[in-house]
Amino acid sequence: MKMATERKTKAEPRFEDEYACQLREYAAGSGEAALGKAYELGRRALTEGKSLMEIASFHHEALQGLIQGQQDDKRREELLQASSDFLAECLSPYEMAQRGFQDAVKALRQLNETLEEEIKRIAYAVHDEAGQLLVAVHLALAEVARELPKPQKDQVGQIEGLLNQVEKHLRRYSHELRPTILDDLGWLPAIRFLAEGVSKRADLPIHIEATFSERLPGTNETTLYRIVQEALTNAVKHAKPSNIWVRAWKENFALCCSIRDDGAGFDSRLLRIPSGRKGLGLIAMQERVSAIGGTLQIESCPGRGTEISIRLPLEDENANSRLARG
Ligand SMILES: Nc1ncnc2c1ncn2[C@@H]1O[C@H](COP(=O)(O)OP(=O)(O)OP(=O)(O)O)[C@@H](O)[C@H]1O
Ligand SMILES: [Mg+2]
Repeated sequence: MKMATERKTKAEPRFEDEYACQLREYAAGSGEAALGKAYELGRRALTEGKSLMEIASFHHEALQGLIQGQQDDKRREELLQASSDFLAECLSPYEMAQRGFQDAVKALRQLNETLEEEIKRIAYAVHDEAGQLLVAVHLALAEVARELPKPQKDQVGQIEGLLNQVEKHLRRYSHELRPTILDDLGWLPAIRFLAEGVSKRADLPIHIEATFSERLPGTNETTLYRIVQEALTNAVKHAKPSNIWVRAWKENFALCCSIRDDGAGFDSRLLRIPSGRKGLGLIAMQERVSAIGGTLQIESCPGRGTEISIRLPLEDENANSRLARG
């Protein structure tokens, strides 16, 4: 009889069982090697997406199992010490990931600042240099027109009219790119100015409702402006809505803002799979918000419109006054 070759795939033990087992070995005195296992367990927990609360709870259970029935106070003390070393080692991959995350956020913040500087430079270049070139074209046309008979003069007049339109649009775009009112008057007037321009160009009502209008730190104002800018651009570009609503309010030390349209909508679940993402706008939004410790939510459904909601942390006023009082 032919023996069937058995191929058993050994399932990996559950994290919590492995944790309890390795902790027992370490506490029994296996030393450095077992501590290395704690580190590996920490890495496994990270890849499996285990939360710190879960690990704390697994640790608690394993510890209870370990010290149960232990009457000798000195031994209990040793076990507690060993367990706390084991837990610290297991959590060290989390500590490293947290540091990496903080570095990434810092780099992102710097990148955003550099980008803002670049946008400012382009906005000024469009405004000043293109503006001056257009003035030179106006002067050259006037010079040419002086020699021309009446009908051609009229044609030149029409070209000048078109040039004036170009100039007006360039000025408007350069202001929207980096509105000086954002620095001078703050995020709300800047958003109103932006919405007014988009509303005219797209021939679409944009309703702004704000119950909070205080100035925010510069980076937060810029972030808010850029998010509303991208959300409005997306709504006009992809959704063909009849209305857009921008709302801003304060809630539990956070500034909340929502941009909602009643247009085509899309399946926002696709954003969770990398191949489902198309452009850069929504990703950039998410990164900008994360860089200042805020959160962003995108809700959309085909035929039901889209809503982008953000929460940006505000400074704790009470904490500030407590600090001021000493
Ligand atoms: N308000 C909206 N209504 C309908 N679909 C939207 C809306 N906002 C985003 N989308 C969909 O989500 C996709 C991703 O948006 P995102 O802003 O990231 O990229 P994009 O606008 O296509 O390109 P980019 O912003 O890089 O110019 C869009 O291509 C579109 O299909
Ligand atoms: Mg976009």
